[in-house]
Amino acid sequence: MEGYDGMQHSGTAHARAFSNIAFIKYWGNQDHRLRLPVSSSVSMNLSGLYSDTVVEWGTHLEQDTLVLNGKVATSEALKRIVTYLDLVRELYKFDGYFAVSSSNTFPTGAGIASSASGFAALAFAINQSVGLQLSERELSTLARLGSGSASRSIPGGFVQWHQGNDHASSYAETIAPMDHWDLVDVIAIISKGHKAVGSTEGHGLAATSVLQEGRLKDVDVRFHRCKQSLLSRDFDAFAEVVEYDSNLMHAVMMTSSPPLFYWQPGSVHVMQQVRQWRTEGLEVCFTLDAGPNVHCICLSAAAPQVQSRLRELEGVMDVLVATPAGAAYSVEL
Ligand code: PMV
Repeated sequence: MEGYDGMQHSGTAHARAFSNIAFIKYWGNQDHRLRLPVSSSVSMNLSGLYSDTVVEWGTHLEQDTLVLNGKVATSEALKRIVTYLDLVRELYKFDGYFAVSSSNTFPTGAGIASSASGFAALAFAINQSVGLQLSERELSTLARLGSGSASRSIPGGFVQWHQGNDHASSYAETIAPMDHWDLVDVIAIISKGHKAVGSTEGHGLAATSVLQEGRLKDVDVRFHRCKQSLLSRDFDAFAEVVEYDSNLMHAVMMTSSPPLFYWQPGSVHVMQQVRQWRTEGLEVCFTLDAGPNVHCICLSAAAPQVQSRLRELEGVMDVLVATPAGAAYSVEL
């Protein structure tokens, strides 16, 4: 692992990273502090949904500060970033503080998680401003410390995150470039509200469900089936395993203690419609993260139909569209 060489005392960087949607989900940690997951996962980066982060690092700064979407953050958001930066300083052995300014291109509070793109962009900018000289693999581990799914927003296109068993071995990498398959994520927004229980807390509850053991028992089978169908562009096989894996994760969520119900009536309605549309020949399937919004994954030829049908459904407030996106990158200051 490259690290701080003690030469630099300040630096500035601007990075951009895309959000991602998981096809095989991450839910539950073997190590909460390092966010080492209990299983590997598969995802696709999402165009248009990204975070832009500018970082100033310096040994002359007196504390970490955060400006989020133009507003100075003081409470939970700042606490999470400071906890992350403390861990990074400890593991990578350097001093100094950060002035972080981050904004999301997708509507704030649209119900789309920003921690994946946010921490990926932050990790990328930290690496540059401090001069850590990390490889892409190492950068994904740095992003993972802030939010597990952020590790998957460092490499481009279609991505796998190896669960690993320590900081260095739990990393993400591209399995196919963004132009490998013309999939589209048509996101049905059911609620724009903030969720009551976020994923960090949720990962800690996963083991309280008796179903988690069953979910993990054959996760490797699903992981390989998903990867295989993705690589061979077999939509039917892909749709089946993606929906199954999402349902399994939500079954664990609903049966944890306390139970987490992310689905809302509108979410269930969309899921039922999507299955119906597929039996009628429209190539579309669904997957949901820790929230009520339904990611309808379809082939680009089906996207206009999926979009217009979703807009007509009761309970759908808005529809966002994203295609596969590339890796995190540096933006000229
Ligand atoms: O990275 P986190 O802690 O926000 O967890 C993400 C959890 C899910 O979005 C529900 C699943 C996933 O693999 O992205």
